[in-house]
Amino acid sequence: MANVKIIVRNNGPLRVEGEDILIVDQDGKTFGLAGRTGLGLCRCGHSEKKPFCDGTHAKIGFKSECVAVDLPPPAPKP
Ligand code: FES
Repeated sequence: MANVKIIVRNNGPLRVEGEDILIVDQDGKTFGLAGRTGLGLCRCGHSEKKPFCDGTHAKIGFKSECVAVDLPPPAPKP
């Protein structure tokens, strides 16, 4: 059972909810979340606090509506 849920918000961020959220940079260094159990990850590309959403999506009129779909199976690894 997943302990983190990611909600794709229409016209907004990826909302991450869970008791043990772990976000790391490409070097594996952990972002300090100060105990948060919910946060938004920028999907519009305009946040001043990337990777986190700072609300800029609303100011710039970001539009993206996503409906859940099933992905095809992953390609076999060589
Ligand atoms: S999605 Fe909120 S600032 Fe980019």
